[in-house]
Amino acid sequence: MTNPKIYVAGHRGMVGSAIVRQLLAQGVAQSCIVTRTHAELDLTNQLAVQQFFAKEKPTEVYLAAAKVGGIHANNTYPADFIYQNLLIQANVIEAAFQNDVQKLLFLGSSCIYPRMAQQPMREDALLTGTPEPTNEPYAIAKIAGIKLCESFNRQYGQSYGVDYRSVMPTNLYGPGDNYHPENSHVIPALIRRFHEAKVANAPSVAIWGTGTPRREFLYVDDMAAASVYVMQLPKAVFDQHTSPMQSHINVGSGADVTIVEVAQAIAQTVGFKGQIEFDATKPDGAPRKWMDSSRLNALGWQAKVGLHEGLAVAYQNFLAA
Ligand SMILES: NC(=O)c1ccc[n+]([C@@H]2O[C@H](COP(=O)([O-])OP(=O)(O)OC[C@H]3O[C@@H](n4cnc5c(N)ncnc54)[C@H](OP(=O)(O)O)[C@@H]3O)[C@@H](O)[C@H]2O)c1
Repeated sequence: MTNPKIYVAGHRGMVGSAIVRQLLAQGVAQSCIVTRTHAELDLTNQLAVQQFFAKEKPTEVYLAAAKVGGIHANNTYPADFIYQNLLIQANVIEAAFQNDVQKLLFLGSSCIYPRMAQQPMREDALLTGTPEPTNEPYAIAKIAGIKLCESFNRQYGQSYGVDYRSVMPTNLYGPGDNYHPENSHVIPALIRRFHEAKVANAPSVAIWGTGTPRREFLYVDDMAAASVYVMQLPKAVFDQHTSPMQSHINVGSGADVTIVEVAQAIAQTVGFKGQIEFDATKPDGAPRKWMDSSRLNALGWQAKVGLHEGLAVAYQNFLAA
């Protein structure tokens, strides 16, 4: 068999860079990995994407490029989130098909599930209710990405060997995360806040809400390992555990923790010795959000990196950033 040529879209992002690390760690040669920065190739530009695929002729694609952001960004720029993500996915998936790519992995998100989905969220909860309104446009784009993959499989699986898969990660953290003070997720935001409090010798750090909601976190290198694992599963095995119109696979750590527990773990990692205060007058959000990862576990994959271990690397990465 000839060498694979693997296109990792979004290779400078948190997940894309972890996928490149994982492929290299597995012994894939750097020369077999194709990348383009956003400046070199805007994936919303259909013609540019088609020209890139026609020139490079990748054999596999990891689609980890997306317009990503927190609640504030999703609420402020809903048009950007739905429009850009729909275009990126449609352009990459169609160009992959036109250029004989048989293997593609699409990265989605747990926000595809209904706001009121039963916990833990199983794959079959998809489209059983409406998503959380704050990120609905983004969620609709991600659902469309799953359905694009499935529809290409259904129409071209037999005739062209198309085998496009989707994975839905829970909340991720780790190297390459976004530590922006206003626009970051829970873990990077708290790493920054506890670090700044430590440096300033602040007596306390106040956190919104009661601290009792439970959330699930997955270290990004585990996510990359799961992505490569799912991509490499033999088709017969993958097909046994999925169905043509419900083919996406949840990727979680399997364990959820309270915000109190995650805050304490971060304070310990950072070396912040002051008080952690919870402002119960502020909103808590959903009481619990976690993924049912039993489909992936049944396929033979488990997360490996524990929260404390992952936080230690994340903090070093924050310091170096
Ligand atoms: N982070 C999480 O907690 C999390 C959780 C669940 C799912 N996911 C999913 O995982 C995937 C990757 O997320 P991430 O956290 O790695 O995001 P990220 O760090 O923001 O990386 C996204 C990458 O996509 C690139 N990109 C965006 N628009 C582009 C365009 N039009 N053309 C070319 N490149 C473009 C970005 O480049 P620029 O920065 O130069 O624009 C960036 O390198 C997304 O699909 C996301 O939904 C992430």
